Amino acid sequence: MGREIANVMGFQGMGWLDRPEREEEENTSKLLRNMEINTNDAIADIGAGSGYHVFKMATIARKGLIYAIDIQDEMLTELSKKKEDFKSENVRVIKGVDKSVNLQENSVDKVLMVDVYHEFDYPMEMMASIKKALRPEGKIFLIEYRGEDDRVPIKKVHKMTEEQAVKELEAAGMKLERNIGNLPWQHCMVFGKE
Ligand SMILES: C[S@@+](CC[C@H](N)C(=O)[O-])C[C@H]1O[C@@H](n2cnc3c(N)ncnc32)[C@H](O)[C@@H]1O
Repeated sequence: MGREIANVMGFQGMGWLDRPEREEEENTSKLLRNMEINTNDAIADIGAGSGYHVFKMATIARKGLIYAIDIQDEMLTELSKKKEDFKSENVRVIKGVDKSVNLQENSVDKVLMVDVYHEFDYPMEMMASIKKALRPEGKIFLIEYRGEDDRVPIKKVHKMTEEQAVKELEAAGMKLERNIGNLPWQHCMVFGKE
């Protein structure tokens, strides 16, 4: 669809995902407030990486469930270790594959994708699988570095414009409800089912 797909970020980049300055650079606290997480929510963090957002969400949706999904075994090992360390009983670590999130149909209220959609090898197949797992009123929070903004110090192939994201998600049957413009570097695009 006119976009170069980025390489998957290797597990060697785990330290960068957990960098201390990340809160200031990306304002994760604001992102989580944007998601209006309820205590009972079932949320899938797709491409969860080392779990930067997973365990913060787990403390908010404390009566719900957080599905932490990734395709790399090293990320899954790290997620399982943190789940043990933090005694996060409401976290489920799931191995996804390149075309599927491996979730049951109609099982989640919210989907979070931070800095991952642009590196899906099969975006259309992944979106079909995500849409199936999402409940009818469910929301997708698509977080990508802003491709329109040259001040965001990230390589072009790892950024997305709103226009491109809308083009691809509309083709998957999703509709942009709003783009919350309050994060320093990223789009916070909220999609619902059409
Ligand atoms: C740049 S990292 C971002 C991690 C995390 N979302 C964060 O913001 O800290 C992207 C992650 O997505 C994972 N990933 C890539 N393609 C995937 C797919 N099809 N399904 C699930 N995870 C995927 C990678 O293995 C990697 O851990």
